[in-house]
Amino acid sequence: MTRKIRIVVVIGNPGAKSRTKVLAQAIATRLADGLAGHHAIQLQTLEIAQLAPQLLASGWPAELPPEGAAAVHAIETADLVVAATPVHKGSYTGLFKHLFDLVAPEALVGRPVLLAANGGSDRHALVVDHQLRPLFAFFRALTVPSAVYAAESDFEGYTIRSSALQARIDEAVAQAVGLVLRGREEALIEHRQAA
Ligand SMILES: Cc1cc2nc3c(=O)[nH]c(=O)nc-3n(C[C@H](O)[C@H](O)[C@H](O)COP(=O)(O)O)c2cc1C
Repeated sequence: MTRKIRIVVVIGNPGAKSRTKVLAQAIATRLADGLAGHHAIQLQTLEIAQLAPQLLASGWPAELPPEGAAAVHAIETADLVVAATPVHKGSYTGLFKHLFDLVAPEALVGRPVLLAANGGSDRHALVVDHQLRPLFAFFRALTVPSAVYAAESDFEGYTIRSSALQARIDEAVAQAVGLVLRGREEALIEHRQAA
């Protein structure tokens, strides 16, 4: 029996109420739908807003309290990471970066990462490609080609109201599902050849 596909959703918003969280959850729901027919799924959400005290306890992973260490470990062992952040000062939030500073440099090599950001307007839409993508290039992760950017105008309060945003989510999710399934297939072939 194959093990569950583990999706880890990182929400980089430092506050409790968050459009980034709504966006990340919409992506996670679509991912679960897309993968459900193929594999069992385990979905884990890591909210910076809740984890900040544990993550800020140290700059060294080995010195983190258990909850912080578990969050880092979850990212390092995920089959797919959804990295979602609000735009702060033209980039990801400082706490989002701090979390990924704690991730081992080799842990995400070749691993699919779906990039998502949410800003006040469309002015900083390229933050996904000019800020987030280079961060995951450092990790040599397999970033999903289409990233998802949302602006406040894509929401009605804290509900997604834009069909264009929904279409961007669908496109990125379809690509991510393809990458995860291909990776799983290749792992199975390697396993059979080694047996
Ligand atoms: C400190 C701070 C800096 C921000 N900087 C930017 C920015 O540079 N570009 C932008 O488009 N929006 C910026 N915003 C707006 C937020 O990205 C926007 O309101 C977003 O929807 C917030 O997401 P959230 O609901 O998850 O907090 C900033 C907001 C804050 C609080």
